[in-house]
Amino acid sequence: MRNIAVAGTGYVGLSTGTCFADMGNRVTCIDISEEKINMLNQGESPIYEPGLSEMITRNVRGGRLHFTTSYEEALEDAEFIFICVGTPSGVDGEADLQYVRMAAESVAKSMNHPLIVINKSTVPVGTGDWVADIIKRSQPEPVEFAVVSCPEFTREGSALHDFMNPDRVVVGSRNKEAAEKVAQLHLPLRARIVITDLRTAEMIKYASNAFLATKISFINEIAVICEKLGADVEEVAMGMGFDRRIGGQFLNAGLGYGGSCFPKDVKALAHMALVHGSHPSLLRAVIDINRDMRRWAVFNIRDMVGGKLDGKRVGVLGLAFKPNTDDIRESPALEITRMLQNEGALVTGYDPVAMKGAGKSNPELRLAEDPYELAEGADALIVCTEWNEFKQLDLTRIKSLMVQPVLVDGRNIYDPTIMHELGFRYRAVGRTYSEPNGNGNDQ
Ligand code: UGA
Repeated sequence: MRNIAVAGTGYVGLSTGTCFADMGNRVTCIDISEEKINMLNQGESPIYEPGLSEMITRNVRGGRLHFTTSYEEALEDAEFIFICVGTPSGVDGEADLQYVRMAAESVAKSMNHPLIVINKSTVPVGTGDWVADIIKRSQPEPVEFAVVSCPEFTREGSALHDFMNPDRVVVGSRNKEAAEKVAQLHLPLRARIVITDLRTAEMIKYASNAFLATKISFINEIAVICEKLGADVEEVAMGMGFDRRIGGQFLNAGLGYGGSCFPKDVKALAHMALVHGSHPSLLRAVIDINRDMRRWAVFNIRDMVGGKLDGKRVGVLGLAFKPNTDDIRESPALEITRMLQNEGALVTGYDPVAMKGAGKSNPELRLAEDPYELAEGADALIVCTEWNEFKQLDLTRIKSLMVQPVLVDGRNIYDPTIMHELGFRYRAVGRTYSEPNGNGNDQ
């Protein structure tokens, strides 16, 4: 059993703290927001993450998990503190480090015994050294500490599973002994552990996210070429993915990546490259292709409803940036909604869990109770998030409710042949419909 403090109760902090508590450690999570800490102390999770509420309750009851707004209280017996605060995008795409700075200063002022400070937030290469400087400068009296980078690789929606079953754990520090201690914390996970220097660990995180984003933009570019040439990107991706050098994951063509990580991290890496005199042309292309997929969606809806969106009713199926989360940050659905509204379309949305946030962020967006209400009177529907519940809809009923049977499948969840048999005017990403007699047709 180790004593661990965790600063920040967002997705990363809360899942990290709760998982370490579940592994038998004593964990205290700190947040500057009293509202969040009050919620957590009443057993409510401020975020939606499958399995998290149950795991929090179990560990709070077991006396292993605590929440506080006080760094002094959290650091009283702690050997480790994980910094898991947000690093939003600044104006030029650079990571905004104000919360990391605040956390480092609070740690410095509250620590009264040696401490290992572990950066889990995604921070620009070199931030570990900067944090060490801040702590040194802000300590009222010198107390020993070491800074370690241990980037997180968990996905929202499967954060607990990913944390407990990592492909690898990366630990980087100038201080070998501190790195070994952090590695030991992870031994129960029985994962490969990569121990490296501080800056390399920070870079591994950016390079990993940028590579996954590149895979997505790559397959989206191939998808658009497939449409022109009459090939099917789903089968192309499958045929490529069996090659172990390529791998089948993150080759799902669609409306592109969103969320709080890929858009921000690719931009931040490109920014770091630029600032240091490099020309990040591949990263630029990845960003451009991702934006173009939103345009692809609007182009196809406009084209299929008769060339003009003004006054047309469009239903958006799925508002979260991906399934199994209520997170709408950089969600393709919301960007597409805005683009459609700018052209005069009347947009209604439906999502199993993300409607509250979506409605707040775009007050003009109407909300439907379910997919059938969404379809009522619609000129077009677009699938923006591949929630499982959309895969088994009664499509005949959906079609009968619509003014025009136009469906743009931005996540390729339906079978083009079935959709055409049902009488939909259907388009998907990178898939052209061929009639059984061989005639190409995408309407
Ligand atoms: C991502 C990484 O997968 C995690 O390893 C990393 O820890 C995390 O960022 C982070 O840096 O914190 P996450 O943003 O939760 O995790 O979501 P992903 O499941 O990776 O999906 C990201 C976006 O890519 C979603 O919008 C998703 O719809 C899109 N995507 C994903 C595709 O368009 N195609 C794919 O084949 C896969």
